Amino acid sequence: MNILVVAAEVAPFAKVGGLADMTGALPRAWWADGHEVAIMLPLYGSIDRELYGIVRTEHVVSVPVGYWTEYAEVWHGKLPGTEVPIYFLRSAEYFDRKGIYGYHEGFEDNDRRYLFFSRAALETAKVLGFQPDVVHAHDYHAAPCMPMLATQYRHDPFFARTAGVFTIHNMAFQGMYDPVRAMEFGGFPPSEFYPSSWFEHHGSFNAMKAGIMFADKVTTVSPTYSQEIRWTSEGMGLQGALQHRASDLLGVLNGIDDTIWNPRVDEHIAVPYDATTLQKKRINKLALLRELNLPCEGASADLPVIGMVTRMTQQKGIPIMTRPVWEVLQQGRARLVILGSGVREYEDYFRRAQDQFPDLVRFVTGYNEPLSHRIQAGSDLYLMPSQFEPCGLTQMYAMAYGTVPIVRAVGGLADTVVHYERTSGTGSGVRFHDYDESAVAAALDYGLGLYNDEPHWSTLRTNAMQQDNSISVAARRYVEVFSWAQERLP
Ligand code: ADP
Ligand code: GLC
Repeated sequence: MNILVVAAEVAPFAKVGGLADMTGALPRAWWADGHEVAIMLPLYGSIDRELYGIVRTEHVVSVPVGYWTEYAEVWHGKLPGTEVPIYFLRSAEYFDRKGIYGYHEGFEDNDRRYLFFSRAALETAKVLGFQPDVVHAHDYHAAPCMPMLATQYRHDPFFARTAGVFTIHNMAFQGMYDPVRAMEFGGFPPSEFYPSSWFEHHGSFNAMKAGIMFADKVTTVSPTYSQEIRWTSEGMGLQGALQHRASDLLGVLNGIDDTIWNPRVDEHIAVPYDATTLQKKRINKLALLRELNLPCEGASADLPVIGMVTRMTQQKGIPIMTRPVWEVLQQGRARLVILGSGVREYEDYFRRAQDQFPDLVRFVTGYNEPLSHRIQAGSDLYLMPSQFEPCGLTQMYAMAYGTVPIVRAVGGLADTVVHYERTSGTGSGVRFHDYDESAVAAALDYGLGLYNDEPHWSTLRTNAMQQDNSISVAARRYVEVFSWAQERLP
């Protein structure tokens, strides 16, 4: 199958969160299964062209925008470890700047940037002669590809047999734009914008809604989240649109790329290990403690390390963990190693915790891919108390590294972590349900109790490592979805 992937993030080139991991991992798995894949990504100023061997092609693609034309230079690279071509669309005006989306509210011209990118991706496919069986658009940034394909490009014989599949990674970000600007930049007739039209939500142009309404199939990243967004406020106001598409909406559970997230081959960690050499995980733990200047002599080496690698937003449940974690630290029962940045108030909490418990807490801000791997390898437990979680990848990475996840059972966390039962010795982590501090406190207590309770601890870690969360399962499921999407074509 010819698959055209359109996304605003692809690992390792441009990554803010799990979206990038998935748009990097899926093409690698499809390629291994013999599919033809091409990826479209903006050439952001922050992408290291030299490091990845990204070179300019002879193509400069005309991109109709409103009643005028703009241009995208096409640059070329390969997805590491594969022959999958990735085309970087360059517009100095839109993408030659620091950052991907801009801080907090985002760049003011994100409407133009991503409407341009969506159209440029389709135009470039045509110029390159890459005739897709499916355009797989991810999240609101690439969502405009769906109405563009359905209402305009499919009239072109080149795209006549191309299906559109839209994958939602997070309903919290929808791309709500000024409708006058967006309809014009998007090349959509202004008459198509009216109350309750497929582009409109609460008076704004809503890219996510258009993606949902115009796609042939809509997927989201876990079965539980696919239900939550239809029936609860997790739909973030778009429950009606999702209900409308209910028969074409599916949850495809994310998976992990074991060429990258695998303690047996991970180049970022001190010593490789697997389920049969789990004792070597301790060497990684000591190396992490040393790297972060935390005491690791004598008994302190045995104190459990709780790890976290996260965007610090409300989604991630920071407010309900602060007090219970503080208490655990006060009692000297565990250490906390956290990497992440985001909301100032949350960052301040971790800074205060580090000041208060200098031997127990390390908080590292900024983005640090190698350290994120070493935290997974060097921690004993991994905390993820999310308020909502479309899927979540870091709990799956934790399991692959024999690090026991403590999660709130929502969205993909509910679909990937099985609660450990002492009586049966089954389960791959610790789950709790309520969004409150006492639930986190009880879960921490249970997890820390297991840490000190052999042989349960060994059983639990082995169970976690043996759970199959491989990306190839997800990749094959998507191919099925793509063929169902094609069946809907006239
Ligand atoms: P989300 O996409 O909601 O942020 P996921 O669990 O799906 O959550 O994926 C997060 C991804 O981003 C993981 O690969 C994680 O390791 C990575 N990540 C988050 N924050 C950082 C950071 N500060 N430095 C390095 N990697 C990070
Ligand atoms: C989003 C979600 C996260 C998911 C990721 C990849 O960023 O917040 O839960 O794992 O996308 O699909």
